[in-house]
Amino acid sequence: MDNKILLSPVQLGDLHLKNRLVVAPLTRVRADDKGIPTDMMVKHYTLRSQFGLIITEASSTSHNSKTFGNSGNIYTEEQMQGWKKVVESVHQQGGLICLQIWHGGRTTNKVQIEGRDPVAPSPIAINGQNRYTNLPYDVPHELTIQEIKEVVEEFRKGAINAKNAGFDAIQLHGANSYLVDEFLKDSSNKRTDEYGGSIPNRCRFALEVIDVLISVFGAGRVSVRFSPTGRTNDMYDSNPLELMTYLLSELDKRNIAFVEIKRYNPFDIHINKSDQISPEIQIPDFFKTLRKLYKGNIIGNDSITLTEAETLVQEKTVEAVSFGMLSIFNPDLVQRYVNDWPLNQSTDRTYFYVGGEKLYLDVPLYTDEKKAENGENQVISQ
Ligand SMILES: Cc1cc2nc3c(=O)[nH]c(=O)nc-3n(C[C@H](O)[C@H](O)[C@H](O)COP(=O)(O)O)c2cc1C
Repeated sequence: MDNKILLSPVQLGDLHLKNRLVVAPLTRVRADDKGIPTDMMVKHYTLRSQFGLIITEASSTSHNSKTFGNSGNIYTEEQMQGWKKVVESVHQQGGLICLQIWHGGRTTNKVQIEGRDPVAPSPIAINGQNRYTNLPYDVPHELTIQEIKEVVEEFRKGAINAKNAGFDAIQLHGANSYLVDEFLKDSSNKRTDEYGGSIPNRCRFALEVIDVLISVFGAGRVSVRFSPTGRTNDMYDSNPLELMTYLLSELDKRNIAFVEIKRYNPFDIHINKSDQISPEIQIPDFFKTLRKLYKGNIIGNDSITLTEAETLVQEKTVEAVSFGMLSIFNPDLVQRYVNDWPLNQSTDRTYFYVGGEKLYLDVPLYTDEKKAENGENQVISQ
């Protein structure tokens, strides 16, 4: 046990993590209809306080930026007060918590934002149907320069609310096909002004938002998440390595707390179009290649087992690892790892986005499982 490097503390900017196991951002839509975090959410996040850091679900900074109903958002006073309860409870248990903020861009449908047009860098709709509304995606409205500035200001207000709620850090969601990613990648950004075309131009929006977050939280408490080879929702970039080379060099200048990078997931269903270069060729030896481009702290993500995480941290390829599925099914992942207890390896997605307390509060801890096996009354973890 002593040689488990994942259990050692690490300093990421101003954040002192007691271990290197991080809860990945996970949208579970358990807030109320006004996007106000619920008591269920207080319990859910608090249960994970023993992780080195919790990154929250994606939280919208404006009504127009919503994609999922009932996520915990951060653009009203009531939402901020709701998050405050989550943060205070996590802090009482000795945890650290970082709010992920985002804008859904073209991934939302008009019906989700009261008939308004979704927005994007360019008026290109995602092919296919939105799996949440079962409607074809709408052609998004191309943001004007003035509107881009307004979105940046929304991020500033969201960050101020996050600070007031007491979050330890803030993360910009720059991954997985949403607005920031749409600006970064050349398949979704066809602009000819200063926000499109060259790589520095495509990165301008992301860096402007990051600078705003730094102005509110201080660089040592700011993070950003990228998925450079991600293909969800029609995303594709012709040269993600060049893109990341520029982005990471810009982030090194800013000295932020950490960058969380999501690698290509071989099980992703939105992949392998015949006219596209495969992700493994675009960025071979993913984390090692990106490590060479960045002096700052990296949190690695996507389909990483505890064994692989040990190796990645041991060899200093990343400073920490975030876990999505494993943290859903093992709220007590840290204790399981400390004690060599077996993991709950379920991948059942039925209750990811529905079901109230199901798979949100009733996931058995290892100690509950043991009691059940021994015929004792099962204690539901809360
Ligand atoms: C139910 C669910 C919700 C997710 N929500 C978010 C989110 O809000 N923000 C985000 O950046 N990624 C989100 N992701 C992606 C995860 O953070 C993570 O990248 C993914 O699960 C791969 O990591 P893993 O293999 O450790 O699960 C979500 C994934 C799942 C399964």
